[in-house]
Amino acid sequence: MNSKYAPLFEPYDFRSGVQVKNRVVMAPMTNFSSNQDGTVSDAEVQYYARRSGGVGMVITACTYVTPNGKGFHGEFAGDRDEMIPSLKKLADAIKEQGAIAILQIFHGGRQVPPELVNGDVVSASAVPSEGDGKPVPRELSHEEVESIIRDFGETTRRAIEAGYDGVEIHGANGYLIQQFFSPHSNRREDEWGGSFDKRFAFPFAVVDEVKKVVAEHAKSSFMVGYRFSPEEAETPGITMADTLELIDKLADKDLDYLHVSLQDFWSVARRGVDDSRPRIALIQEKVGDRVPVIGVGSIHTADDALKAIETGVQLIALGREIIIDPDWVQKVKEGKESEIVTKIDKSKQKELVVPDPLWNAIIHTPGWFPGID
Ligand SMILES: Cc1cc2nc3c(=O)[nH]c(=O)nc-3n(C[C@H](O)[C@H](O)[C@H](O)COP(=O)(O)O)c2cc1C
Repeated sequence: MNSKYAPLFEPYDFRSGVQVKNRVVMAPMTNFSSNQDGTVSDAEVQYYARRSGGVGMVITACTYVTPNGKGFHGEFAGDRDEMIPSLKKLADAIKEQGAIAILQIFHGGRQVPPELVNGDVVSASAVPSEGDGKPVPRELSHEEVESIIRDFGETTRRAIEAGYDGVEIHGANGYLIQQFFSPHSNRREDEWGGSFDKRFAFPFAVVDEVKKVVAEHAKSSFMVGYRFSPEEAETPGITMADTLELIDKLADKDLDYLHVSLQDFWSVARRGVDDSRPRIALIQEKVGDRVPVIGVGSIHTADDALKAIETGVQLIALGREIIIDPDWVQKVKEGKESEIVTKIDKSKQKELVVPDPLWNAIIHTPGWFPGID
């Protein structure tokens, strides 16, 4: 290995006691490829196994904690105990290759396709997403809110029983947890909304419930991470200033990590702060050394990754790149970083071990993956 890349290969010890062997994470990515009954498919297991040999940690695609939270066709289920063997199959496949396995737990809220939830699309308030033809969600009752919080805990217990090393609470990308934090989607006037402070209530209740379940059920070290999106484009919508307050509070919740969701690691805030430094710098400054941060977004080459880790983030995640080149980490380790592939090769689906539904989405969405214009 070229010694300049050594910082990418230092082990890291998380607060809970789990150790990761290097600083490169596979980002959570939905693959639309699970079986109709919600179990993980063989194609999916092979896709993960192919990518778990180099990275230190794999965060799975999101899994829904409640039937009305299913956000994607071909999303695997984490909402009932009979899914534990399926969840275990995936955890085993990842761990057998040497990475630690983190299950991303999720509820889609107003973004779920209505046909997946018998038309019963729910959210914090009856406010649709922006854009033509978006369904008007039904506002969740107080009891339903409490029940979904417990469901996040229940899926965490299943993750523990299935042998995962941790869970990541999906508070990003506009899904239910973010919908409760957002002034766009949360117009409630009860304890779950009505003021800036009350919009923290749901995300924090989920964190507290998940941590409670871990304390009660985990027999060994078990991680809890939290993912967030720093800003929303809508008005009203989450601003960078809102997010800095959110993560300031999350940093005191004894989480194992915070994981920002960004398309570009170096992007700058659109509003809320008068500061032209990249968002990632503002995030790190706010949390300091209270909690490690995972950075992400358009990291393709070894030098991209090095430059990102040199900002002081503890870990970096690769999303599209680890689909494009599953041997990314091994190549850097073996001094072959010049051989890293950074554009998807349309003729290599089999070699890359990508299930059909994900492959079709990739090759039919211009501009999403490098190499598909
Ligand atoms: C195919 C695909 C599926 C994704 N699914 C999820 C998901 O389930 N959960 C999530 O938090 N982010 C999801 N993301 C976002 C990625 O985790 C990541 O933040 C984003 O792709 C930017 O990183 P990249 O530039 O390295 O791809 C997905 C991205 C892709 C490309």
